[in-house]
Amino acid sequence: MSYRDTYAGWQADPEGFWMEAARKIDWERPPSRAFFDQGPAGEWYADGMLNACWNAVDRHVEAGRGDQLAIIHDSPITRSCRGITYAELRDRVASLAGALRSKGIEKGDRVIIYMPMVPEALEAMLACARLGAIHSVVFGGFAAHELAVRINDATPKAIIAASCGLEPGRIVPYKPLLDRAIEEATHKPAFCVIFQREQEVAHLIEGRDVAWHSFQFGVEPAECVPVEGNHPAYVLYTSGTTGQPKGVVRHTGGHMVALAWSMKNVYGIDAGDVFWAASDVGWVVGHSYICYGPLAVGATTIVFEGKPVGTPDAAAYWRVIQNHRVKSVFSAPTAIRAIRREDPEGKLIEDYNLRHFKTLYLAGERADPDTIQWAEEKLGVPVIDHWWQTETGWPIVANPVGIELLPVKRGSPSVTLPGYDVQVLDEAGHPLPAGTLGAVAIKLPLPPGTLPTLWNAEDRFRKSYLSHFPGYYETGDAGYIDEDGYLYIMARTDDVINVAGHRLSTGAMEEVLSAHPAVAECAVIGVADSLKGQMPLGFLCLKKGTNTPNQQVVKEVVGMVRDQIGPVAAFKTACVVDRLPKTRSGKILRATMVKIADGQSFKTPATIDDPAILDEIATALRAVGYPQHAS
Ligand code: COA
Ligand code: AMP
Repeated sequence: MSYRDTYAGWQADPEGFWMEAARKIDWERPPSRAFFDQGPAGEWYADGMLNACWNAVDRHVEAGRGDQLAIIHDSPITRSCRGITYAELRDRVASLAGALRSKGIEKGDRVIIYMPMVPEALEAMLACARLGAIHSVVFGGFAAHELAVRINDATPKAIIAASCGLEPGRIVPYKPLLDRAIEEATHKPAFCVIFQREQEVAHLIEGRDVAWHSFQFGVEPAECVPVEGNHPAYVLYTSGTTGQPKGVVRHTGGHMVALAWSMKNVYGIDAGDVFWAASDVGWVVGHSYICYGPLAVGATTIVFEGKPVGTPDAAAYWRVIQNHRVKSVFSAPTAIRAIRREDPEGKLIEDYNLRHFKTLYLAGERADPDTIQWAEEKLGVPVIDHWWQTETGWPIVANPVGIELLPVKRGSPSVTLPGYDVQVLDEAGHPLPAGTLGAVAIKLPLPPGTLPTLWNAEDRFRKSYLSHFPGYYETGDAGYIDEDGYLYIMARTDDVINVAGHRLSTGAMEEVLSAHPAVAECAVIGVADSLKGQMPLGFLCLKKGTNTPNQQVVKEVVGMVRDQIGPVAAFKTACVVDRLPKTRSGKILRATMVKIADGQSFKTPATIDDPAILDEIATALRAVGYPQHAS
């Protein structure tokens, strides 16, 4: 069936479409219907009973795939590579789940997971799913404070962490970060499970910490506990406009159905294929397409502990694709830009046999046409940009390769997938004609697998996503749809920025900067960066009478962001200015500052309080090298 027919089929009978998709999943009790008009925005498969771990692991063993590799851990950082079969994975997960159960973890309990790219991270997620416990994975590049914020919000009964992560050239000890976070948090977990890595063996706190291996010793393996279709599988925190991250909730039924549907229809992946999402378990890509998606369809997933460049070189991707016969890769455009910068002619690619490699998928940030063209030419496979968010859990707009490869238009993630009705709206919420820029919104209800609410924050969910355009979900992105129905994402409409495919909040960074004793006022903007897409840049107005030299304050705030948000924020530059440009009502003109920093033409806003400040901002920006091409 063509894409057009598939989309029309969903439009004509969404209920039938999603009931049919649900048949690809094993249910302990099949749902009586797909959509339930309940909760703030509707729920899916609410009266079905299933288990996500069963669907991702056990059922493949039952179906005779026990000897197939479920996970390949390829770690150029530790110079090691090992595989775990489906049968081994089932036993390992059942044992871990049994140990968690013996310490009191049961359905509905929250468990925070703070781990690097090791298979044990997936095993921890799956062990929670086996028991119906709700996991919340925290990305390893976040600092102790960010972990503490999530501990307070999720109130976990347990935390599962590794002793350390490994970044090129340095060990990142996780345990001190974990200890600091627990000390800072007002909620305390009952116990912590520590996976000791040989690179850094952590000191365990008696009475609170248990070691991954020893606490599993002699326990009864746990069977899968069936849960309701609308039971939360996990909570994943993502950046909003403030320092308080949003806890995106994922319900089990829709999560499994949507991932199984997208693996086949978007990524063209079947049982036995090898799929590699080169991301991290701490992000939504890791949840959907490193862990649950490939495993739900019986494919082999790659857990890669390395970087696109520097581990040891810009051929790391090609080596992994060749050695493991990867069929499709999912990566961020930043990674391809980093590889291209090191190997502009793509010479290293020629050393590898990539005959199993069929498609490269890019998401997480805007894919610039230049990068897409380079990858197409050097790799000789379709390069598919696709657009989605932590909130949706799976693609909204994509070229549905598994159904049919539509013509690629570089710069566009292509067309709306079945389940989504994407529209571009004006400020008053009216749909705009083709080619006109506006707010990108999705007509309710959202499809299975998308967020039904925010953890402990239903009001915030309504306010953030549902209230601006009644009847729609507001994506926070701006863009337009062309005459052929291809979407173009142009910018965010809020203060979220995207640094190397990592979603970050400038508001959260501003909260850190304003805590510096010398800072009276501040602003953080995202400026264009040729490698990472965007980089954060701070502006500081210092308190009168501050004696500390400007450069010292800048150095200190850079350290504070690294210490409190984490190295992943990549906050490296700030400039000290006398005043910030504002409207007469006091709103900081961040969008205008971005245009100046990026060297784009702009109109001085009519509401500006004092236009002369823009010259001062331009001077301050030049001093730190912006606009980049002007220096
Ligand atoms: N644990 C601890 N620290 C981490 C980390 C982790 N899991 N991940 C990143 N960091 C640190 C890095 O070491 C770096 O620290 P530094 O400032 O001391 O150098 C900082 O956070 C920024 O990291 P990163 O954004 O990865 O930049 P980089 O300069 O180290 O590498 C690229 C540049 C392009 C190689 C890298 O950004 C990359 O691989 N990008 C692809 C991103 C991606 O796949 N995103 C997935 C979203 S779909
Ligand atoms: P995250 O929740 O981290 O996946 O980030 C989601 C945001 O990243 C989106 O709302 C967009 O702003 C941006 N984004 C993701 N994919 C794309 C894409 N293909 N093109 C442009 N922006 C994207």
